[in-house]
Amino acid sequence: MAPATGLVWAGNLPGVALYRSGAFQVQLFVFPPNTYVPRHRHPDVDTIEIYVAGDYDFRVGDISAIPLNHLHDRRNGVSRWWGRGVRVGPNDWHELQVFEAGACFLSVQHWLRDEPSSVGNDWDGQPVNDGHAKQLCR
Ligand SMILES: [Fe+2]
Repeated sequence: MAPATGLVWAGNLPGVALYRSGAFQVQLFVFPPNTYVPRHRHPDVDTIEIYVAGDYDFRVGDISAIPLNHLHDRRNGVSRWWGRGVRVGPNDWHELQVFEAGACFLSVQHWLRDEPSSVGNDWDGQPVNDGHAKQLCR
């Protein structure tokens, strides 16, 4: 079931909780073109990030989990990376560079200590933007 409080923002970047039950949650994230999400980690959350649409470089540690320019690698108009999941553990540093097409992915989460809210709130690292920085200081 999707919670009524499931729409959250990191500055101007939305996250939508499509499902939440106990310690588990699924959030949908959409990023505008050319967004950069600095290297960070979510110490309280174990996640699998699933490619939906767009063109982006998602790096976990020093590894590019979704390769550059993968939109060129498609069959029947769908990237062959559609539905591919990338495990991101609570201590895994990761970053995101979004290109011209924007980015959309699902984040399947297991919250290890707190009640689920948003991975944007469980953040260790440089914030995405000024609005996000203000939220993290609350
Ligand atoms: Fe993250």
